[in-house]
Amino acid sequence: MVNTNLIDTGIKVIDTSLKTLFKVNQTTRPYPAANLTEPRLTSFEQKHAAGYMRVNHAGEIAAQALYQGQQITARDLSIKQTMQEAGDEEIDHLVWCEQRLQELGSHTSYLAPLWFTGAFIIGTIAGIAGDKWSLGFLAETEKQVVEHLDGHLTGLPEHDTKSRAIVGQMREDEQKHAETAIAEGAAKLPKPIRHLMKLTAKIMTKTAYLV
Ligand SMILES: [Fe+2]
Ligand SMILES: [Fe+2]
Repeated sequence: MVNTNLIDTGIKVIDTSLKTLFKVNQTTRPYPAANLTEPRLTSFEQKHAAGYMRVNHAGEIAAQALYQGQQITARDLSIKQTMQEAGDEEIDHLVWCEQRLQELGSHTSYLAPLWFTGAFIIGTIAGIAGDKWSLGFLAETEKQVVEHLDGHLTGLPEHDTKSRAIVGQMREDEQKHAETAIAEGAAKLPKPIRHLMKLTAKIMTKTAYLV
């Protein structure tokens, strides 16, 4: 018998993946920086803010891919649903970062397909490991993202209120995603895995800041 759930998930995953890579996503919530005036930034500040927002955009590409990989391999239907809902919320982040990059006169990472492919493979492996590990991976990812966004809130130009508003809202959402994963039974990942995740994220953020 054909597994219709698997087909449904597969179609949704392909749809989301194509929309992510070809930038045709639509947000469900308003742009956090919509009512703020464009700050006067020096060219250095503008480049630096763009570097940060490009890193965040790359991170959101990776988040989409992780969630897709985890969703397709999740065993429990409710976990599949959690991955899908969290992934949908991340679409807002993706679009907001892209919009801010345009306002800053910059571009998204040229390596987006690479971030997507790598994260999709990692998400699939996490899903195959089992739901509690997949949730654990999600919780740890979001925890590390929150720490990373805290760093951006410190490092962004003080008067770039637009970028700050976006990053602030994203931080709030990521914190919520981590809490949801823990509430649904996330297992704590072994230390070497957590370190490996940090190392991988470091390589990605350093590269995406530049290209
Ligand atoms: Fe996000
Ligand atoms: Fe998130």
